[in-house]
Amino acid sequence: MQKGCDLTRLDPVLAEYAGVPGSLITVLQHTQELYGYLPHEAICYIAQKTGTTPAKVMGVATFYTQFRFQPVGKYHIMLCDGTACHVNGSAGIAQAVCQHLGIEPGGTTEDGLFTLSIVACLGCCSLSPVMTVNEDAYGSLTPARAVEILDGLRAKEVQA
Ligand code: FES
Repeated sequence: MQKGCDLTRLDPVLAEYAGVPGSLITVLQHTQELYGYLPHEAICYIAQKTGTTPAKVMGVATFYTQFRFQPVGKYHIMLCDGTACHVNGSAGIAQAVCQHLGIEPGGTTEDGLFTLSIVACLGCCSLSPVMTVNEDAYGSLTPARAVEILDGLRAKEVQA
Protein backbone atom coordinates (compact mmCIF):
# COMPACT_ATOMS: atom_id res chain seq x y z
CA MET A 1 0.00 0.00 0.00
CA GLN A 2 1.26 3.45 -0.81
CA LYS A 3 1.92 5.90 2.00
CA GLY A 4 -1.16 7.95 2.72
CA CYS A 5 -3.43 5.24 1.37
CA ASP A 6 -7.01 5.60 2.39
CA LEU A 7 -7.56 3.57 5.56
CA THR A 8 -11.06 5.00 5.90
CA ARG A 9 -12.09 2.45 3.26
CA LEU A 10 -11.96 0.03 6.17
CA ASP A 11 -14.42 2.01 8.26
CA PRO A 12 -17.62 0.41 6.89
CA VAL A 13 -16.12 -3.04 7.51
CA LEU A 14 -15.07 -2.11 11.03
CA ALA A 15 -18.42 -0.48 11.72
CA GLU A 16 -20.14 -3.73 10.81
CA TYR A 17 -17.82 -6.20 12.53
CA ALA A 18 -15.65 -4.49 15.15
CA GLY A 19 -18.02 -5.32 17.99
CA VAL A 20 -18.84 -8.83 16.81
CA PRO A 21 -16.96 -11.49 18.78
CA GLY A 22 -14.90 -13.83 16.63
CA SER A 23 -15.15 -11.66 13.52
CA LEU A 24 -11.47 -10.81 13.09
CA ILE A 25 -10.99 -13.30 10.25
CA THR A 26 -13.94 -11.75 8.41
CA VAL A 27 -12.48 -8.26 8.90
CA LEU A 28 -9.13 -9.47 7.56
CA GLN A 29 -10.79 -11.10 4.55
CA HIS A 30 -12.58 -7.87 3.68
CA THR A 31 -9.34 -5.95 4.16
CA GLN A 32 -7.55 -8.21 1.71
CA GLU A 33 -10.39 -7.80 -0.78
CA LEU A 34 -10.03 -4.01 -0.52
CA TYR A 35 -6.24 -3.76 -0.84
CA GLY A 36 -5.23 -7.07 -2.43
CA TYR A 37 -3.17 -7.94 0.66
CA LEU A 38 -2.94 -6.97 4.33
CA PRO A 39 -0.92 -3.75 4.55
CA HIS A 40 0.86 -3.18 7.86
CA GLU A 41 -0.97 0.14 8.27
CA ALA A 42 -4.30 -1.67 7.95
CA ILE A 43 -3.27 -4.23 10.60
CA CYS A 44 -2.46 -1.34 12.98
CA TYR A 45 -5.72 0.42 12.14
CA ILE A 46 -7.78 -2.73 12.76
CA ALA A 47 -5.98 -3.27 16.08
CA GLN A 48 -6.63 0.32 17.13
CA LYS A 49 -10.30 0.17 16.18
CA THR A 50 -10.93 -3.20 17.81
CA GLY A 51 -9.04 -2.43 21.01
CA THR A 52 -6.29 -4.97 20.55
CA THR A 53 -2.63 -4.88 19.47
CA PRO A 54 -1.11 -5.19 16.00
CA ALA A 55 0.85 -8.21 17.27
CA LYS A 56 -2.37 -10.01 18.18
CA VAL A 57 -3.96 -9.23 14.81
CA MET A 58 -0.80 -10.42 13.04
CA GLY A 59 -0.79 -13.54 15.21
CA VAL A 60 -4.21 -14.47 13.84
CA ALA A 61 -3.48 -13.38 10.25
CA THR A 62 -0.22 -15.32 9.95
CA PHE A 63 -1.96 -18.49 11.11
CA TYR A 64 -4.00 -18.62 7.90
CA THR A 65 -2.39 -19.22 4.51
CA GLN A 66 -5.13 -17.25 2.72
CA PHE A 67 -3.65 -13.95 3.86
CA ARG A 68 -0.90 -12.10 2.01
CA PHE A 69 1.36 -9.46 3.50
CA GLN A 70 2.94 -8.13 0.33
CA PRO A 71 1.19 -6.55 -2.65
CA VAL A 72 0.64 -8.93 -5.53
CA GLY A 73 1.56 -8.24 -9.14
CA LYS A 74 -0.93 -7.19 -11.79
CA TYR A 75 -1.18 -10.85 -12.78
CA HIS A 76 -1.52 -13.22 -9.85
CA ILE A 77 -0.58 -16.72 -10.94
CA MET A 78 -1.94 -19.47 -8.73
CA LEU A 79 -0.32 -22.74 -9.67
CA CYS A 80 -1.99 -25.78 -8.18
CA ASP A 81 0.12 -28.36 -6.42
CA GLY A 82 -2.77 -30.43 -5.15
CA THR A 83 -2.57 -34.21 -5.55
CA ALA A 84 -3.94 -34.50 -9.10
CA CYS A 85 -1.85 -31.60 -10.38
CA HIS A 86 1.23 -32.82 -8.57
CA VAL A 87 0.92 -36.28 -10.10
CA ASN A 88 0.51 -34.67 -13.52
CA GLY A 89 3.65 -32.54 -13.35
CA SER A 90 2.97 -29.32 -11.45
CA ALA A 91 6.51 -29.32 -10.03
CA GLY A 92 8.02 -29.07 -13.50
CA ILE A 93 5.64 -26.23 -14.36
CA ALA A 94 6.56 -24.38 -11.16
CA GLN A 95 10.23 -24.76 -11.99
CA ALA A 96 9.73 -23.46 -15.54
CA VAL A 97 7.64 -20.50 -14.39
CA CYS A 98 10.10 -19.58 -11.63
CA GLN A 99 13.02 -19.79 -14.00
CA HIS A 100 11.24 -17.84 -16.70
CA LEU A 101 10.12 -15.04 -14.40
CA GLY A 102 13.24 -15.05 -12.22
CA ILE A 103 11.27 -15.38 -8.99
CA GLU A 104 10.68 -17.92 -6.26
CA PRO A 105 7.21 -19.18 -5.30
CA GLY A 106 5.50 -16.36 -3.41
CA GLY A 107 7.62 -13.77 -5.21
CA THR A 108 6.74 -10.90 -7.51
CA THR A 109 8.66 -9.85 -10.61
CA GLU A 110 10.59 -6.60 -10.35
CA ASP A 111 8.30 -4.91 -12.87
CA GLY A 112 5.34 -5.75 -10.60
CA LEU A 113 3.60 -7.71 -13.34
CA PHE A 114 3.57 -11.27 -11.99
CA THR A 115 3.22 -12.89 -8.59
CA LEU A 116 3.46 -16.65 -8.30
CA SER A 117 1.62 -18.51 -5.57
CA ILE A 118 1.70 -22.28 -5.25
CA VAL A 119 -1.65 -23.37 -3.89
CA ALA A 120 -3.58 -26.47 -2.95
CA CYS A 121 -6.43 -27.83 -5.07
CA LEU A 122 -8.14 -25.18 -7.19
CA GLY A 123 -11.21 -27.40 -7.54
CA CYS A 124 -10.85 -28.34 -11.20
CA CYS A 125 -8.73 -31.49 -10.92
CA SER A 126 -10.04 -32.96 -14.18
CA LEU A 127 -8.09 -30.21 -15.96
CA SER A 128 -4.86 -30.93 -14.09
CA PRO A 129 -2.28 -29.62 -14.07
CA VAL A 130 -3.94 -26.25 -13.64
CA MET A 131 -3.04 -22.66 -12.98
CA THR A 132 -5.16 -19.57 -12.75
CA VAL A 133 -4.05 -16.07 -13.68
CA ASN A 134 -6.40 -13.62 -12.03
CA GLU A 135 -9.86 -14.81 -13.13
CA ASP A 136 -8.73 -17.12 -15.94
CA ALA A 137 -8.02 -20.83 -15.55
CA TYR A 138 -5.61 -22.76 -17.76
CA GLY A 139 -5.71 -26.55 -17.73
CA SER A 140 -3.73 -29.51 -19.13
CA LEU A 141 -0.62 -27.40 -18.76
CA THR A 142 2.91 -28.22 -19.73
CA PRO A 143 5.93 -26.17 -18.69
CA ALA A 144 6.19 -24.77 -22.23
CA ARG A 145 2.50 -23.88 -22.39
CA ALA A 146 2.64 -22.10 -19.02
CA VAL A 147 5.58 -20.00 -20.17
CA GLU A 148 3.79 -19.24 -23.44
CA ILE A 149 0.72 -18.00 -21.55
CA LEU A 150 2.84 -15.69 -19.42
CA ASP A 151 4.72 -14.41 -22.46
CA GLY A 152 1.36 -13.67 -24.09
CA LEU A 153 0.30 -11.60 -21.09
CA ARG A 154 3.60 -9.73 -21.03
CA ALA A 155 3.34 -9.02 -24.77
CA LYS A 156 -0.13 -7.59 -24.18
CA GLU A 157 1.36 -5.22 -21.61
CA VAL A 158 4.10 -4.07 -23.96
CA GLN A 159 1.50 -3.26 -26.63
CA ALA A 160 -0.77 -1.43 -24.17
S1 FES B 1 -5.40 -30.90 -7.53
FE1 FES B 1 -5.10 -29.23 -8.86
S2 FES B 1 -7.09 -28.55 -9.28
FE2 FES B 1 -7.39 -30.16 -7.87
